[in-house]
Amino acid sequence: MRPFHFPCSRSSSKLPTDLLGFALLTVLCLASSTDSCIDQEKSVLLQFLAGLSGDGGLSASWRNGTNCCTWEGITCNADMRIADILLASKALEGQISPSLGSLTGLLQLNLSHNSLSGELPLEGLVSSSSIVVLDVSFNHFSGALQELFIQSTIWPLQVLNISSNLFTGKFPTTTCKVMNNLVALNASNNSFIGQIPSSLCINSPSFGVLDLSSNQFGGSIPSDIGNCSMLRVLKGGRNNFKGPLPDELFNASSLEHLSFPNNDLNGVLDDANIIKLSKLSILDLQQNIFSGNIPKSIGQLKRLKELHLGENYLYGELPSTLGNCTNLKILDLKINYLSGDLGKINFSSLSNLMIIDLLVNNFNGTIPESIYDCTNLIALRLSWNKFHGEFSHRMDRLRSLSFLSVGWNDFTNITKALYILKSFSNLKTLLLGGNFNHETLLADETMDGFENLQYLEISGSSLHGKISLWLSKLTKLKIPMLKSDKRTNLDVSVPNMRFYGIPFIKNRQYQYIHTTINIAKNGFTGAIPPEISQLKALDMLNLSFNSFSGEIPQAICNLTKLVMLDLSNNNLTGTIPLELNKLNFLSAFNVSNNDLEGAIPTGGQFDTFDNSSFTGNPKLCGGMLSHHCNSARALPSPTSSTDQFGDKVIFGITFGLFFAYGVLLDQMVLKRLRSLQGILIYQLYEQS
Ligand SMILES: *[C@@H]1O[C@H](CO)[C@@H](O)[C@H](O)[C@H]1NC(C)=O
Ligand SMILES: *[C@@H]1O[C@H](CO)[C@@H](O)[C@H](O)[C@H]1NC(C)=O
Ligand SMILES: *[C@@H]1O[C@H](CO)[C@@H](O)[C@H](O)[C@H]1NC(C)=O
Ligand SMILES: *[C@@H]1O[C@H](CO)[C@@H](O)[C@H](O)[C@H]1NC(C)=O
Ligand SMILES: *[C@@H]1O[C@H](CO)[C@@H](O)[C@H](O)[C@H]1NC(C)=O
Ligand SMILES: *[C@@H]1O[C@H](CO)[C@@H](O)[C@H](O)[C@H]1NC(C)=O
Ligand SMILES: *[C@@H]1O[C@H](CO)[C@@H](O)[C@H](O)[C@H]1NC(C)=O
Ligand SMILES: *[C@@H]1O[C@H](CO)[C@@H](O)[C@H](O)[C@H]1NC(C)=O
Ligand SMILES: *[C@@H]1O[C@H](CO)[C@@H](O)[C@H](O)[C@H]1NC(C)=O
Ligand SMILES: *[C@@H]1O[C@H](CO)[C@@H](O)[C@H](O)[C@H]1NC(C)=O
Ligand SMILES: *[C@@H]1O[C@H](CO)[C@@H](O)[C@H](O)[C@H]1NC(C)=O
Ligand SMILES: *[C@@H]1O[C@H](CO)[C@@H](O)[C@H](O)[C@H]1NC(C)=O
Repeated sequence: MRPFHFPCSRSSSKLPTDLLGFALLTVLCLASSTDSCIDQEKSVLLQFLAGLSGDGGLSASWRNGTNCCTWEGITCNADMRIADILLASKALEGQISPSLGSLTGLLQLNLSHNSLSGELPLEGLVSSSSIVVLDVSFNHFSGALQELFIQSTIWPLQVLNISSNLFTGKFPTTTCKVMNNLVALNASNNSFIGQIPSSLCINSPSFGVLDLSSNQFGGSIPSDIGNCSMLRVLKGGRNNFKGPLPDELFNASSLEHLSFPNNDLNGVLDDANIIKLSKLSILDLQQNIFSGNIPKSIGQLKRLKELHLGENYLYGELPSTLGNCTNLKILDLKINYLSGDLGKINFSSLSNLMIIDLLVNNFNGTIPESIYDCTNLIALRLSWNKFHGEFSHRMDRLRSLSFLSVGWNDFTNITKALYILKSFSNLKTLLLGGNFNHETLLADETMDGFENLQYLEISGSSLHGKISLWLSKLTKLKIPMLKSDKRTNLDVSVPNMRFYGIPFIKNRQYQYIHTTINIAKNGFTGAIPPEISQLKALDMLNLSFNSFSGEIPQAICNLTKLVMLDLSNNNLTGTIPLELNKLNFLSAFNVSNNDLEGAIPTGGQFDTFDNSSFTGNPKLCGGMLSHHCNSARALPSPTSSTDQFGDKVIFGITFGLFFAYGVLLDQMVLKRLRSLQGILIYQLYEQS
């Protein structure tokens, strides 16, 4: 509460000697101004309160008999007028009355994060009063914002946040015209349609922040935007914008944050244009249809921290000037047609890099040595390119890596790779599949490390040799928390589906793909080490299409979290351990095409597996098979040896990769690809 006696004390100082007069004045002051708010303003607040259907306990503090300047969320100015109403996250429900607009001293009205609904009486709230900041974000306001008719007044409004509501319709242009003082407009995450309200900065010269992301705005980006000389932040992601970025846009040279991800924007990124945005810190144009080269002038953007150009149709080599962007933290160029040797880029000067994502491009050559100076890297993805060569010992310097994916290149010497990587104590996800063709994995019992690995994939490499015991020594595998890395906004703790260009399915049972060992489609021989049972958190184990022999170790029954177990297409003998039926989460099981014998376990999940899980084992009997255990009739041989789980397959990872790549080769539109994959994965998890 601010001092209420300010006007009185000033006049009193004029009479320092007249003690009687001073005393008298003091009494008068106390009597007249009292330490209370203005009755009329109090009744406006009480009216607002009465209009709510849920006040979240506010009425305990908002009592008629008391000074409303002391009420929860209320601040008064020196004249005892209400200046701020800050009621964010107070569980308020119901509609709001426009009468708050009659509070003539009101500067800030913040009702963010409540459950307020109905129409927003925007005009009533702001037109007649002094409101400078209005934040009603994260509520359930709906309907269209009304066009205003005769307007002579100029609103003092500077910040308007109506984001994360249920607004629809076009953004009213007349409203823009009266907001001559607007600095920030945040309309993100609603369902607005129509064009960008581009007259905003024509009317309001100091306009600085425009966030329209996650709406249904469309059309082209108006060239008027270029007249916004003070515009710092322009966000329009996840809308339906089309056409090129207009040349004029680049006249808005104060821009620090320019992002239009996930639209249908096209054209090339022009050298002469990019250079004009010298203050740019974030450039996010991913998931559009931009083509052409990455402009050389990008090197002039000294303040650039994040460059997101993934999922476009960019081609050509990376400009060596990229090495001049010394503040770069995130370099996302995934799923483009970029090519050439990275050796020309001096990564040593990019030591702030935390994420490099080059997935699905045509880069070749070896991993450039200079990349090993990027010691802050936490995620490096080079998969689906044409890199070759051995891992360098200098890679040791990348110990901060949490996510490393180099799959489907032409790397060699897996033994060396594993020796280097084993001491990466932050490494959680390691994807090596599709490299090291026909090499032999040394069964080195002294191998250890990989302290925090949660996801390992070395499938499709035609590797030979015995499965190393070190795999089963990964005892630190623990059930990871569903936590995304705040520093990067990327979830690097789980095998992130987004890393494959596959949408991450929220609120689905994706926790089932946490802890995985996938070494399918290699040439591994020998027995399955029983020590594998020490990997208590394992939920997917895929050893299919190898040459494992011997029995299925009894100890596998101890992997109680298993959701998927694929041992198909090996040379396993003996019986199926009966206690596998105690694995309550097991929803995909496949031992087809081995040489197993005896009875198929019954009970538990085993009652849900059909024939295809067991075919190709002539000596197996029971279960749902027509081959009963006391009959001598042989099982029919399998009709199809691949895709054993049919549509119950959960090995989304490997499959997803092939899928993504296959479709890309067909030059299908990326957006379609994404939705197809979405459906695919969705179905897989629906079934599990
Ligand atoms: C608040 O108190 C005043 C004075 O006692 C009274 O006139 C007014 O009706 C009251 N308002 C409400 C909403 O109870
Ligand atoms: C409104 O309050 C919320 C919660 O305190 C805060 O995050 C937000 O920045 C405020 N809005 C404005 C415009 O100051
Ligand atoms: C609403 O948007 C304004 C301007 O962009 C911003 O200052 C404010 O923090 C946002 N409010 C919340 C709750 O995020
Ligand atoms: C807009 O508001 C949302 C909250 O709905 C906030 O996350 C976002 O940062 C705001 N945008 C800007 C540019 O301040
Ligand atoms: C978008 O708004 C909805 C409410 O309409 C909210 O639940 C959701 O969290 C918002 N999304 C973001 C990313 O802020
Ligand atoms: C934008 O700026 C250009 C160049 O100064 C000017 O010709 C044009 O009239 C301006 N547009 C608007 C709508 O003010
Ligand atoms: C704005 O950009 C256009 C096209 O790039 C250019 O012709 C024009 O001179 C620029 N206007 C100003 C005021 O810089
Ligand atoms: C930018 O990078 C190029 C190529 O690496 C280099 O020749 C040039 O000196 C750099 N310019 C600046 C200003 O650092
Ligand atoms: C690497 O890619 C570039 C550009 O596509 C090509 O010119 C070059 O021949 C390739 N080098 C190798 C060794 O394949
Ligand atoms: C793999 O690397 C190791 C360690 O540098 C080396 O001893 C071995 O000869 C290499 N293997 C092959 C096949 O080149
Ligand atoms: C499996 O678990 C049981 C009970 O927890 C334990 O007695 C047994 O030793 C374990 N077997 C193996 C091979 O780890
Ligand atoms: C695995 O079984 C196949 C077919 O029975 C046989 O040809 C092959 O030699 C066996 N491999 C091993 C390593 O036992």
